[in-house]
Amino acid sequence: MLRHLPATLMLTTLLIGEDFAEAQQKTANYDESKIAPYTLPELLKSADGSTISTAEAWINKRRPEVLALFQQHVYGRTPDPATWGPVQFKVTQVKKDALGGKATRKFIHISLPEHPAWQGMEVMLYTPNGRSGPAPCFVGPSFGGNHAVSTESDVPLSTRWMRPNKEKHIVDNRATEASRGNESSRWPLEMILSQGFAVATYYYGDVEPDHAEGWKDGLRAALSPQGAATQWQNGQWGAIGAWAWGLSRIADYLETDSDVDAKHLAVIGHSRLGKTSLWAGAQDSRFGIVISNNSGEGGAALMRRNFGETTAIITKAFPHWFTRTYASYAGNEAACPVDKHMLIALAAPRPAYIASAVEDQWADPKGEFLSGLHAQPVYDLFGKKGVAVPEQPGIDQPVGDFIGYHIRTGKHDVTDYDWQQYLKFATRHFGR
Ligand code: GCU
Repeated sequence: MLRHLPATLMLTTLLIGEDFAEAQQKTANYDESKIAPYTLPELLKSADGSTISTAEAWINKRRPEVLALFQQHVYGRTPDPATWGPVQFKVTQVKKDALGGKATRKFIHISLPEHPAWQGMEVMLYTPNGRSGPAPCFVGPSFGGNHAVSTESDVPLSTRWMRPNKEKHIVDNRATEASRGNESSRWPLEMILSQGFAVATYYYGDVEPDHAEGWKDGLRAALSPQGAATQWQNGQWGAIGAWAWGLSRIADYLETDSDVDAKHLAVIGHSRLGKTSLWAGAQDSRFGIVISNNSGEGGAALMRRNFGETTAIITKAFPHWFTRTYASYAGNEAACPVDKHMLIALAAPRPAYIASAVEDQWADPKGEFLSGLHAQPVYDLFGKKGVAVPEQPGIDQPVGDFIGYHIRTGKHDVTDYDWQQYLKFATRHFGR
């Protein structure tokens, strides 16, 4: 029967997930003049119609409303801590002369004793040697596992499910020896450590494999009384919520580790994991800096701008990332009570950084910038300047005070250039 369908329909019928999103990249709108006019939801208008005019009213009244709107309409609610019970940390290895003696490397297994169906997560922590005090720390998930972040050959190879990827030598959905170090260019450990920062990371698939049915083998099923038979309801959490949960559990551990200054944690993520870091930062104020690298649609980019990826595409390709409600805004973004400037505002008054790449038009760099720009009214309440410029800056010209922004040369990726900006920003704001 499929043979008789028009070619374009066949394409959308047959492709799912990553392939569907990739096919859409060719036909998406990249023309500014074709973006329909839109109005952003008001940040400072409370549900009862009153105007928010003080930092206190933002914190006590409007912020909880905005957070609840993101839970209900975008990412879903993270279950109450009582649902998951005690969190267990086991330090499984300490290597004091990692990276040629420059760092101490630890592995920490984090698990939930009351929910053994979840296999737990393996955290890799590098702290710089030779510091006089505890180190501020970047906390972020990886796409490929600890062995992909580090080039050290004694890092255990992840045995978990991985997305198919020939280039990264993933065979039968598992990492192989040849997969080692394949993400190391995105994690310039020596550069970060040499500036006095620590790095804590985990493989996002430890919390939930990244495909539509992945939750059945992950944390979400383990915590749900119906397990793999769960029917997800509007407002219940999606995969991004679960991955963000993992970041907060790393923060729980770091608070117990005297090598880390847990009062100075910066949460960071790239792409779908940038969406994740923004959501983790919105929910958990222990992250003193929130960094989004090329997070795009469903992350920093304004959903009301029809440029690059859209709500319709993302919720079709990756329905499991969001709460169910979000898909109802496909082609009807104006009905959504939030847009992503409000997600950035949830970081306030903490510093946030949004990074774009000029060849990453799929992620709508301008829409990412505008989220930062339009979060300003909330930073104003705290007397803080955000991006501090009225227009998106030129390529490779970082701007911003409490909201950093740059659009760099090159493609969708995390580069040394990105890290140089994050390190400067973190050094400035963490006061080192
Ligand atoms: C796809 C998806 C994006 C996502 C990206 C990634 O391109 O459409 O929304 O950010 O994958 O995570 O690499």
